[in-house]
Amino acid sequence: MEGLRTVMGMAVVLGIAMVVMLPEVGATRWTVGSNMGWSPNFNYTIWAKDKHFYNGDWLFFVYDRNQQNVLEVNSTDYESCNSDHPLHNWTTGAGRDVVPLNVTRKYYFISGKGFCFSGMKLAVHVENPPPPPVASPVNSGSPPTYHARIIIPAVFTIGAVWDAFLRFW
Ligand SMILES: *[C@@H]1O[C@H](CO)[C@@H](O)[C@H](O)[C@H]1NC(C)=O
Ligand SMILES: *[C@@H]1O[C@H](CO)[C@@H](O)[C@H](O)[C@H]1NC(C)=O
Ligand SMILES: *[C@@H]1O[C@H](CO)[C@@H](O)[C@H](O)[C@H]1NC(C)=O
Ligand SMILES: *[C@@H]1O[C@H](CO)[C@@H](O)[C@H](O)[C@H]1NC(C)=O
Repeated sequence: MEGLRTVMGMAVVLGIAMVVMLPEVGATRWTVGSNMGWSPNFNYTIWAKDKHFYNGDWLFFVYDRNQQNVLEVNSTDYESCNSDHPLHNWTTGAGRDVVPLNVTRKYYFISGKGFCFSGMKLAVHVENPPPPPVASPVNSGSPPTYHARIIIPAVFTIGAVWDAFLRFW
């Protein structure tokens, strides 16, 4: 019995580890400016250029709360660095602001307090996420999708292991 319990315990841990190790799919939380954060003298146009922002992603602005802020503006105010009538003030006061990109459109952000003129302006074009890959006709004999291949066996493994676990513990 003792040995069996140990085996069962290990199997439970393994089963859980399998689920935890599943590749992350879906939304991305982008730290604006990467290591530079949201700060002056950094070009956010270049930062955003090679990235795809999808509906459901988030922007994470990290900055000095005593200096900068995060304002969403329209394209005119983005171009002219006008912070007099933001569409949305995302500043919460902690210097750590999360903005959900939940509409497929262009978003424009600037820092007020003059920092827009030092480069703190970001435009992102939010797109619909790409459709999940479909099995090509050539491979139609192979298992349907990546996820089904991993998740379903993992769920069954855990179910079976848990059942055994309850029975023998
Ligand atoms: C942006 O807002 C300003 C002030 O409300 C307005 O004058 C301007 O026409 C707006 N621009 C766009 C592109 O909507
Ligand atoms: C934005 O909101 C913050 C927190 O509520 C506030 O302190 C700040 O004055 C606001 N800024 C603007 C430009 O509205
Ligand atoms: C997008 O998120 C904002 C802020 O959380 C929320 O106010 C708004 O209703 C959301 N819009 C949609 C279309 O879900
Ligand atoms: C960022 O770089 C682009 C391309 O070099 C340039 O057109 C743009 O003016 C720069 N933006 C800022 C805010 O410096």
